Order: sequence, then C-alpha cells, then structure tokens
Amino acid sequence: MDFKLDLLPEEKRNHGCLKGLETLSFGQMRSDHMFVCEYEDGEWKDGRIVPYQDFSIAPGAMVLHYGQAIFEGAKAFQRDGELYTWRFDKNAERLNESARILCMPEIPVDLQIDALNRLLDVEREWCPKIEESSLYIRPFMFATQDSLGVHPSSKYTFCIMLSPSGPYYAGGFSNTVTLLVTEKFHRATTGGTGAAKACGNYAASLRAQEFAKSKNCAQVLYLDVTNTYLEEVGAMNHFHIKKDGSIIIPEFTDTILKSITSQSVLELFPNARQERIKIADFLEQIENGEIIEAGGFGTAAVITPVGKYVTDEGKEYVVGNGEIGEHTRAIYEKYVSMQRGDTEAPEGWLA
Ligand code: COI
Repeated sequence: MDFKLDLLPEEKRNHGCLKGLETLSFGQMRSDHMFVCEYEDGEWKDGRIVPYQDFSIAPGAMVLHYGQAIFEGAKAFQRDGELYTWRFDKNAERLNESARILCMPEIPVDLQIDALNRLLDVEREWCPKIEESSLYIRPFMFATQDSLGVHPSSKYTFCIMLSPSGPYYAGGFSNTVTLLVTEKFHRATTGGTGAAKACGNYAASLRAQEFAKSKNCAQVLYLDVTNTYLEEVGAMNHFHIKKDGSIIIPEFTDTILKSITSQSVLELFPNARQERIKIADFLEQIENGEIIEAGGFGTAAVITPVGKYVTDEGKEYVVGNGEIGEHTRAIYEKYVSMQRGDTEAPEGWLA
C-alpha cells in the first residue's frame, strides 16, 4: 500500500516537551502524528500518516453500539539514536487473532510493520530517554459501518498512535502491588472473547478494578468461572516462582490473553513452564513457603512484582517477605536489558 504523508512543519511539532522531564506517566502524552487506514469493499486502503487528530465517525458507527473494537500494546526503544521495536511482529499477529475472534478483517502483518516503521521514522524524537520509559505503541481497529443491525461491520478504521510513557504502575519495578483474589467477578468464560485483546474485555473489567481499589488492591487476580483456577490479571498475565526457582505461568486457555512477555519468558528461561493452577493450591503454597515470589507479565506492566494477595474474606497472603524477590529481579533485568539492546536478544526480537 502507498502511504500519503501529511506532516506538521518542524516548528509546529511538540517533541520538545519531553526535554527536562524526569518522570513520565503511562499513556497520557501523544506524539505529533498517527497512522490511519480504512477497510471498505474487502480491502485496506488510504494509508496515511497525519497529525494526531479526532476521528469523524457516524453516530450509527457500529463500534459505538456493539463494541467491535480491538487493540494492541507494543514498545519502541532508542539506542544510539536509532529506534527499535520489541517483537512487534507478535503484536501484529495477535491483532489478527483478536480480529478473527471479533469477526473483523485481518490486516496483513507486513502492512502493520511497514506502517509502524514509517510512523516511527517521522516520530523518532518522541522516544523518551527517561529510565523505565519507552515509546508506547497503540495499534487499534474499530467498526465504522453506520448500521444498527447486529452483524459484523463492513467498514473499519485501523490506526497506530504513539505515547511516550513511563511504567504502567506508578513507581515502576521498585514497587510491589497487592492483588485481590475474588470470586465476585470474572473476566472471561470458555467460548467467549477472553483470548482477544478486545476493548469490551477492558470495559467489562472496570467494575472489578474499582472493587479491587476499594479494598486497597491494585487489580483483581481473575479466576475461571468455576472459581477453581487462577487465570490472569486483566492488565497483565500472572506468574509465580517456586522454591526450586521454576517460573510458573498459567496455561493459555481461550479465557487468557497470550501475553507476549509471558511467551518471551517461556522462550528465554528454561526453568519457565505453563500449568493449570488451582487457586487453593496457590494460596496454600504461598503459606507453606513453596511459592516464594509472584508477579505479572505484560507489555505495559513489563514485570510487576506482587507482594501480597487478599481474599474476599480479607485473609492476606504475603509472598516471601512481601518485597521484590531475587528471581523476579533477575527476570526483569535480563528482559529489560534485551529490550534496550544491552544484552543480545534472540534474532529478530529487536527490529
Ligand atoms: C499492554 O500491556 O500493552 C496493554 O495493552 C495492557 C493495558 C491495560 C495497558
């Protein structure tokens, strides 16, 4: 696809606002431009890089009524003046998996990569140099056909926007978070959309998140609908570490989003494996010291240590001594060092 460029003149660009900043919050800042294209009559067309701006969609656009919308989260890092993306091909493939689940059109992986690379080329000054920060990449697709019938839309918009961002959880890796283990809310059910990065999954998680906050917890650790198995956290996958150093990640079912960070850890660490994990066993093993560390894996969350779990009855389970453990720190350091290009990553992961 040929892309059109409609770029701001240098004097109207705003990347200078990054200068002198010492911290960055997650997802608040926007870069100057975005990539957009549309799907109509069975094909993607009109690829363009334009100033970041509002969309114009019909009040009857199907996304506003039936929520056909999906997204991705990826990161670019800067090294020696050059920008590198981290496993964006995996994000592009996962976007298409989400598209299949939501009956939306796939968008060729090569097109997504090409669009992103051209956008990054224009926005290279927007990559922050602050510790624990990156240029966060948010590709997304939504339904635009003006129709109130419930069926897959015939028209879509795909966009990539960029946000120079710091850590997802304030304080970054230096803080542990507390998770609420609740039987009151569920994120996904078998046969549903849990394995898709569907906007509706995040809308549906807000009530649980607010409930968790009311109990002084950062998020809910979701269980399956039978309240037997531990699943994921919504903004990240879950992991724990056993006394023997093994890293355990819940098996990917159709109710869990396949985190690219989890997949990478599974590829990088021979002592990492996946299991179906019963919540009762998990809590018991925290108590008896078999589980010594725990946390979450995600693009935005990176590796977030969990210090404590709280149940509906208010019982607290402190993992290890409640602080960041040495295994979690080692995973974090290896992973981040690969993302920054300080340690060699497997072929093609930094591109
Ligand atoms: C990401 O990790 O990139 C996500 O999209 C999760 C979101 C809750 C910030």
